Amino acid sequence: MKILFSNLILTPDIILYDKAIAFDKKIKDIDDLETLKARYPQAEVLIYENSILLPTFANPHVHLEFSANRTTLSYGDFLTWLYSVISFREELLLKCNQSCLEETLSTLIEYGTTAIGEISSYGDDLVACANSKLKVVFFNEVIGANPATVDISFASFLERFKESQEFKSERFKPAVAIHSPYSVHYVLAKKALNVAKSEGCLVSVHFMESLAEREWLDKGTGEFAKFFKQFLNQTRPINDPLEFLELFEDVPTLFVHMVYANKREWEKVKDSTIIHCPISNRVLGNGVLDLSKPKHYLIATDGLSSNYSLNMFEELKATLFVHPHYPILPFAKELIVKATKEAHKVLGFEAGEIVKGKLADFQIISFEEGIEHFKKKEEMEIYLQLLLHTSKPKAVFIEGENFLERRK
Ligand code: BEZ
Ligand code: FE2
Repeated sequence: MKILFSNLILTPDIILYDKAIAFDKKIKDIDDLETLKARYPQAEVLIYENSILLPTFANPHVHLEFSANRTTLSYGDFLTWLYSVISFREELLLKCNQSCLEETLSTLIEYGTTAIGEISSYGDDLVACANSKLKVVFFNEVIGANPATVDISFASFLERFKESQEFKSERFKPAVAIHSPYSVHYVLAKKALNVAKSEGCLVSVHFMESLAEREWLDKGTGEFAKFFKQFLNQTRPINDPLEFLELFEDVPTLFVHMVYANKREWEKVKDSTIIHCPISNRVLGNGVLDLSKPKHYLIATDGLSSNYSLNMFEELKATLFVHPHYPILPFAKELIVKATKEAHKVLGFEAGEIVKGKLADFQIISFEEGIEHFKKKEEMEIYLQLLLHTSKPKAVFIEGENFLERRK
């Protein structure tokens, strides 16, 4: 057992002042330091002066296989980016070897994220994810617009899905990703969704990320028309977007992006969780999601294929600034609650909250200039100041073990 004291604890919904937590793998008790010391006399005591403790983040949408990208891919416009992905995919995948994957996973933890939703296109990331300390929902992705290759695409997906099932555990959950309505044939999507239904796993799908996708699926015109003619000799879209959405009606699904979804599509997904990736949307020229549309949403970074970082502190700051019409104090609190408690809940992990019985996954932020000003602030402002002034935690605990202790 360990006892850890922190000046402020974000549970995350409420703030506890000058309390301590007792934990092993799970959080056992929360009380005053002296009370816990008397109750657990054998416990190791850790005092973090000038600190704020909060649960670690869950980042529900990343593409780790593209982690070697820095400036290789082209930004600014979705189709320009997609052409660059096709040109440089082989090179980027080769560059992202096991050590690149391991380093990316360690960096995620160093920046306070200990759970992810990983979209795996090829399965190259399976072993690194399964062996890491992170909690992972491993979305095996299916892609293929060509009706003639449905069986081949499905077989490749099923093989990867089965391999991932070998690693199934409390902290590694095999799952299913359908790439998008423009790139996955209806029959293929249906077959993969049947696997998700029979295995009871979560599904992820990109939907209406770009204006080009909207135009192609509605009218069969625009920049995608040229793309499909060139690469697949395809002249018409394969799916009607609304019929495509109907495939997901009885499967728990994360709908990613939704920037260009229309009224009827929003109605179809109204009880589902929407994944909002503001930096990715911005750098690929896809605009900003209207956050008044989703009932439930979470924030994610997307992959390094469309972001400069997988750091959730960066993504949450960006979210604050791309939605200037939301009052900043309650919005900052909402974002922290979503990135911790709600994101863990949606991914199905027993963490993301500092309450008795949850796993002891938490991060400690240190303020060298002292914590006195923080303590005098209105509660809501504490969330904002924390976001603005943090890019990296001082320490990250996963299931009670200190993963990193920064020297400075
Ligand atoms: C396909 O594999 O069919 C595909 C991939 C990317 C975009 C569109 C289609
Ligand atoms: Fe994505």
